[in-house]
Amino acid sequence: MSIEMPALDRDYAAAFPRSRELFAEALSRLPSGITHDARWMDPFPVFVERAQGAYKWTVDGRRLIDYWMGHGALLLGHGHPAVTAAIAEQLQRGTHFGASHPLELEWARLIQEMVPGAELVRFVNSGTEATQLAMRLARAYTGRTRVAKFAGHFHGWHDEAVSGYKGPYGVTATTGVPQEVLSTTIALPAGDAAALRQALGRGDVAALIVEPSGGSWGAVPLDRDFLQLAREETERTGTLLIFDEVITGFRLAPGGAQEYYGVRADLVCLGKIVAGGLPGAAVAGRADVLAYLAYRDPEWNRTKKIAHQGTFNANPLTAAAAVATLRQIKDGEAIRRANALCRALGQGLNRALAESGVRGCVYWQSSMFHIALGLDAEPSPTGEPPRGVEPGVLERLAKGPETLALRKAMLLEGVDLMRSGGFLSSAHTEQDVAETVAAFGRALARLKREGLV
Ligand SMILES: Cc1ncc(COP(=O)(O)O)c(C=O)c1O
Repeated sequence: MSIEMPALDRDYAAAFPRSRELFAEALSRLPSGITHDARWMDPFPVFVERAQGAYKWTVDGRRLIDYWMGHGALLLGHGHPAVTAAIAEQLQRGTHFGASHPLELEWARLIQEMVPGAELVRFVNSGTEATQLAMRLARAYTGRTRVAKFAGHFHGWHDEAVSGYKGPYGVTATTGVPQEVLSTTIALPAGDAAALRQALGRGDVAALIVEPSGGSWGAVPLDRDFLQLAREETERTGTLLIFDEVITGFRLAPGGAQEYYGVRADLVCLGKIVAGGLPGAAVAGRADVLAYLAYRDPEWNRTKKIAHQGTFNANPLTAAAAVATLRQIKDGEAIRRANALCRALGQGLNRALAESGVRGCVYWQSSMFHIALGLDAEPSPTGEPPRGVEPGVLERLAKGPETLALRKAMLLEGVDLMRSGGFLSSAHTEQDVAETVAAFGRALARLKREGLV
């Protein structure tokens, strides 16, 4: 007896035949046919061959309105003319000098001008490297071993970042990391003041690292008062506060979450937007902490200095893209435009939900939105997250079967959601927002018809 494929999967397979073929080949070349866990998708992901502005085109010739925006790296959209021109010009001059160069200074100067407290900057190649270096700096500075974080907060995939990332918390998030290493990171319940005080009160925590807008790029929000409390408690106990601004940096405000919330961290990890859409990242913050990377006398260099290399650190091509991008973002106009579009989109999506009769709530912050499909909650006209939701529910909904079905239904309608939400850019238009809202209405009607919500 053959099991019939659900209509949604059948239509999806028919709409993206070339992607399906490429995925069959990918399975023999790449584990699960993919290169990043978040790109895994059942029955197969779409393959994209080109992108411009707010759109990308699949190998099947379909145009998608893109809400991945380079995993959040492209605040200015795909192929912004100033960024492309800077990269093209740099290509003629050379991609790697194996030497110091003026563009890295310009890049660092822009970061210092925009990010509060960025007294010194060290460049690395990814957000993962940035959090790893920030943790090492904190350990060197304080002489303490442990790092505290919040359950559900993502800080990249290195060994010391993976404790308590995915639920059920308390269980190893990944195999392949020694228990000794996992146990150096304490994962605390997010928003729990008593647990925070108790953990920091032990006096052996080098740093508290946090996604300032909340776990999973704000899908599970933290509030400003709690961040402020985290600042006070870290200060009181001699613990460094690290803001992981890989997502929020240059998106919430030109000065990131520190500017947006009015809370100052000791170190910030910058990724994604900071590198203008090419691979690159940075750690910025207090000079007396970054001093542990600096050369001094031979005794210090041998015993105290943090060793830190990286072939592609601040490579000229990334630096060119980064400088062009940060110059565009500095006056806040691109951020304000993306924010306004996100507000219109969030309100439109909530309207479509109400009209469809499907339960759910869309909430947003700045230019990031989240769709909690299946949640019984009154949406806020200003995008405030739903209140009083039991711990774990938002995370579960974000990864639930309804959300995956929605993503496929939206792809059929020409919209690529980043799983349960997405990122707006300054390249999106009011027309894109209107098309997305209409597509969402049709996708919800399909899911209802097929009994998937
Ligand atoms: C908050 C946060 N920190 C760190 C990282 C890791 O950055 P990367 O993927 O560049 O290693 C990410 C990636 O999405 C992130 O969202």
